[in-house]
Amino acid sequence: MMTADPIRPRRSVLYVPCDRPRAMEKAETLACDAIIFDLEDAVAPDAKAAARENLRTHFRAFRQSTAERIVRINPLASDFGTEDLLAARGCRPDAILLPKVEDDTHLLDVSDALAQTDAPQTLRLWAMIETARGVARAAHLASLSSIGPYRLGAFVVGTNDLFKETGVNGPDARLYARSWLMQVVLGARSGGIAVLDGVFNNHADLEGLARACAEGAAMGFDGKTLIHPVQIGAANAAFSPSADSLTAARQIVAAFELPENAGKGVIALDGRMVERLHFQQAQALLAKAVAIAARETDNNRDTNPS
Ligand code: COA
Ligand code: MG
Repeated sequence: MMTADPIRPRRSVLYVPCDRPRAMEKAETLACDAIIFDLEDAVAPDAKAAARENLRTHFRAFRQSTAERIVRINPLASDFGTEDLLAARGCRPDAILLPKVEDDTHLLDVSDALAQTDAPQTLRLWAMIETARGVARAAHLASLSSIGPYRLGAFVVGTNDLFKETGVNGPDARLYARSWLMQVVLGARSGGIAVLDGVFNNHADLEGLARACAEGAAMGFDGKTLIHPVQIGAANAAFSPSADSLTAARQIVAAFELPENAGKGVIALDGRMVERLHFQQAQALLAKAVAIAARETDNNRDTNPS
């Protein structure tokens, strides 16, 4: 069993195409919790080589970041995969994100290649779940996270690809796909890994985005993947614990810490039954809030860029 990752807020996870060096630089100044440097879908085939060079240049210029940094590569079996992987490995990101993960070998082939480069075990693999087969096998794939060599750290839902493959469409697409998204959340939780919601394509529609973020948070996602800086504020707000939930958590912790409640499995609080599991849940929420507060004092990033 691998040791658990420390709590890292992943409320806002911004994709940046690696053929846009100016946007890559800008991303380092923003308040997103994580940045996905994209060599895959957002970069046209004839721009792939230049994008890889931009990635190298960027990580040389920005050796450190307060954001978690992930590089999305093309599938290992594609024309670009091996070179992408070597470039990503050389940059020492926190994780490498693999597209269309469906089978154990998609992870294992990459982790074998990484082992040959003596990559540290802290370098994680994140898996895009964005095909029917990937969704159907989410719980199995997540179970691989307990096997060290797989390096699996998180699932990232790719709703655009999933809708394309399945034929789900129209304004209610997410409604029809909800049970699939929940299957990915359930799978991720069964393997103890993080899970990030898909993107909201219309970056001019901030109300729609706020609704989508609230929905994703209620569904249990850790955060949302984003395409534009203007989306960061809404995601950070929706995926942060609310003031009310923190007050409730503090009350539960205080109640369980009373000497008369020591060792009790269940107590009554304000006319409600509260179980020890709620105590643990409350402690986890407070720890998450501490991690978020630390992240926010860590930097003076721009939370609401225009
Ligand atoms: N990350 C960082 N900065 C970004 C950004 C991103 N994803 N998208 C836009 N910006 C920056 C621009 O560089 C610009 O900065 P500047 O004015 O300081 O130079 C500013 O934000 C405003 O950009 P804007 O003109 O509104 O956007 P655009 O029309 O240039 O680009 C998109 C719109 C959607 C093409 C662009 O946001 C994008 O490529 N997003 C990511 C897409 C992606 O990665 N998809 C794959 C995963 S789904
Ligand atoms: Mg995709």
